[in-house]
Amino acid sequence: MRIYKAKDYEEMSQKAANIIAAQVVLKPECVLGLATGSTPIGTYSRLVEKYEKGDLDFSKVTTVNLDEYKGLPRENDQSYYYFMHENLFDKVNIDPASTNLPDGTKEDSDAECARYEALIQSLGGVDLQLLGLGHNGHIGFNEPADVFEKDTHCVDLQERTIEANKRFFASADDVPRQAYTMGIGTIMRAKKILVVVSGEDKAETVAKAFFGPVTPQVPASILQMHPDVTVVADEAALSKSP
Ligand code: F6R
Repeated sequence: MRIYKAKDYEEMSQKAANIIAAQVVLKPECVLGLATGSTPIGTYSRLVEKYEKGDLDFSKVTTVNLDEYKGLPRENDQSYYYFMHENLFDKVNIDPASTNLPDGTKEDSDAECARYEALIQSLGGVDLQLLGLGHNGHIGFNEPADVFEKDTHCVDLQERTIEANKRFFASADDVPRQAYTMGIGTIMRAKKILVVVSGEDKAETVAKAFFGPVTPQVPASILQMHPDVTVVADEAALSKSP
């Protein structure tokens, strides 16, 4: 595991975008695994800038996102589909047909999760998976648990996640109760993993996840077992790590 210390959020975003850009330059037809959330927004902006300058070509890239709320249509501005179009897909020359997310409108969870897992395999796996880190150590929607869930699956959102997310919706009743997420096995099968983390509020989680014992109670700790992980974190996020 390589850990890069960035000065601040801006430098973290720049470094992360450079790593993703290098992947696209080295293998233009690569498969990128992508994340939503607030942390990667700056990374996506830097990638858009590189594309606008003519330094990056996404025309042969395929993407697979980590997760999606179940029950939200694509046009809902809280769907991860909407987020990805807003922050990246609509701003670069990626072929929309080559972008993939779990389909939150599919009712049959088993069928949708099996479809998504098979799709990732049929693409030959993920070359570079981008991840954010949840405050409780989650990656994707893989929350602390007694075991690591391997493949893409449907999760019941925890009450505090629903509570935390309700500010984005008209009311708590509108917050989805479930989500589809890649499993820990799906994530660990990526050839390379890039984790972006920013802020003092994540410092304890960073210390636990990357320097503590490997345990499903801190799902990101499993990344210590992956042969090619790069963490790009700012000073504040690393302030409680050795
Ligand atoms: C997003 C995702 C989540 C986030 C995590 C951190 O697709 O799967 O695991 O990466 O919740 O979110 P932020 O970056 O908003 O702190």
